[in-house]
Amino acid sequence: MNEILQALVKRRSIRRFTSEKVTREQIETILEAGRFAPSGKNSQPWRFIVVESDERRAELAKLVPQKGMVAAAPVTLAVLLDHDAGYDELKDAQGIGAAIENILLAVHALGLGACWMGVARDEAIETLVEAREGEELMAIIPIGHPAESPTGSPRRPLPEIVRFI
Ligand SMILES: Cc1cc2nc3c(=O)[nH]c(=O)nc-3n(C[C@H](O)[C@H](O)[C@H](O)COP(=O)(O)O)c2cc1C
Repeated sequence: MNEILQALVKRRSIRRFTSEKVTREQIETILEAGRFAPSGKNSQPWRFIVVESDERRAELAKLVPQKGMVAAAPVTLAVLLDHDAGYDELKDAQGIGAAIENILLAVHALGLGACWMGVARDEAIETLVEAREGEELMAIIPIGHPAESPTGSPRRPLPEIVRFI
């Protein structure tokens, strides 16, 4: 099967990480994937904050429901929506989703693991990551070397979710 198609099917959320670091080069590759996502009017309303210092990661872990996952990940991305760059709340959010999926696929392609966490619109985290005026938290993505290989993640069969007309 084509590598991209295989990655789409094989990618899984990874919630447990080893202590091995993620390199700066890997982080840049992942961010490039996010940067090339499609967005309405090509507005590119996403902003990415790389939370990598031990101190900030520990503080961030205290502010999320799944503390262990964020504490263990050597790096966590905060994905923000810059409302000054965007033009339509719904379409901006859709573009952010596309960027996050690109990021997840790049992580997978590098043999790393990540989990899209729906931690959003959280003022305490926005302050911690030094979000600027007009920027709103949309998600956080802990990234690291996988310490698990989840397989079960069932999907609804096509006939249940598709209609041909
Ligand atoms: C918008 C969104 C929010 C999510 N939030 C969380 C979360 O807060 N915590 C978590 O463990 N997984 C979260 N997930 C991951 C989903 O649980 C996961 O993608 C889904 O169960 C399918 O599993 P898979 O990613 O392994 O294919 C989120 C996914 C999306 C798209």
